[in-house]
Amino acid sequence: MSPSVLQQPGFTVVTMKTPNDKLTNFGAVIDDIDLNEISDEDVTALSEAIWAHKVVVVRGQKDLHPQKQWDLVTRFDPNAEEVHSHGDMKTFNKNAGLLARGHYVHAVPEIENIRIIGKGYQGSDHYYGLKDMTIDAPPLHSWHAMKLSDEEFEAGHTRFQRWHIDAPLYDRDPAWFTTLRCIKRPKAPAVTVHWDDGSGQSMTVNPGLTAFFSSVQMYDLLTPREKAYADHSWVEYAPHPYTWLGGAESLPTGLGISGAGKELTLDMLPAYDASKIKHYPMVWINPVTNERAFMVHAICVRRLFLRTSPNATPEVVEDLEAVRSWLRPLQERILKPEYIMVPDLDEGDIVMWANYQLFHSAIDYPSSMGPRTMHQANIGASRGPTGLFMVPAVA
Ligand SMILES: [Fe+2]
Repeated sequence: MSPSVLQQPGFTVVTMKTPNDKLTNFGAVIDDIDLNEISDEDVTALSEAIWAHKVVVVRGQKDLHPQKQWDLVTRFDPNAEEVHSHGDMKTFNKNAGLLARGHYVHAVPEIENIRIIGKGYQGSDHYYGLKDMTIDAPPLHSWHAMKLSDEEFEAGHTRFQRWHIDAPLYDRDPAWFTTLRCIKRPKAPAVTVHWDDGSGQSMTVNPGLTAFFSSVQMYDLLTPREKAYADHSWVEYAPHPYTWLGGAESLPTGLGISGAGKELTLDMLPAYDASKIKHYPMVWINPVTNERAFMVHAICVRRLFLRTSPNATPEVVEDLEAVRSWLRPLQERILKPEYIMVPDLDEGDIVMWANYQLFHSAIDYPSSMGPRTMHQANIGASRGPTGLFMVPAVA
């Protein structure tokens, strides 16, 4: 992008150095800002930096009050309704389906839009109310169809949990950004993420961190023919998609569902409003850099509308095996260690990412390494993704 597009910020944005063994082209670090006291101009500049660099780590926010984290999130998108993109806590824990499988998600007391992500003992009094709380959940990859044994996991063999964007994909539009502040995490020993898909691929990472790949780079890896499809096609997400997924299980890479047939039928779902079902173009445009990102949350897609030119009648694909086998080769091309970045976070660092430009995944580690506490917040966007065309109102 042209640097002239950026507001002149009162802080310094340093591009992350790409290690020699990586092909990633995103990421930046800011060291000289206090998010407790950030001006409106700097909120705008920070927002543009997140769009431009896609992942931004703001260091040294140990004293950031959770309310200030939420305030920042609302200032990024002042026209949005002031609620977490997944709704209030009661709604979330009732309807989260896959997102809360096997455990209850907690929020910071009195600041319920700040969600607590982590595991293990959360302290004697976490933000004045959660006393002696322990988050005890199954391993994050336990939803993979091909199971990882406890013995292997305890020995440091782990996996990507689920490549995703933070998005309800029903009713509210996905958050532009997600913010995730590291309160506590173990730093050693390293764990090894295995693909476990027969490819033999693996990468070594420090525990308690989040992995990212760029959907802009994913788009760039498409052939001209695939780009023609991507540019002009759209997807329809299932109503209440994480409930609709039912007992579906993941491939061992965390990218995509293994097979099909464990989803709920539409008549088994909680009541839904057809007008709240999401239809999004496959390609989302970055409002600051104009880059194209291939943004399809494949596991939640119910139908594809495929075409290679703006006025063609789309081919509708609704057989789920076919939906998934069409998307899979386009998406898994990027799933290689050289395209995956796992930015390091110290306690007090906050990572913010452009949810419309990247996929991310958690990576679990053995509980014996110690507890993890993160504060996560995002807001259902005031304006959904922009593609190269308007999705027709009636499919
Ligand atoms: Fe997430």
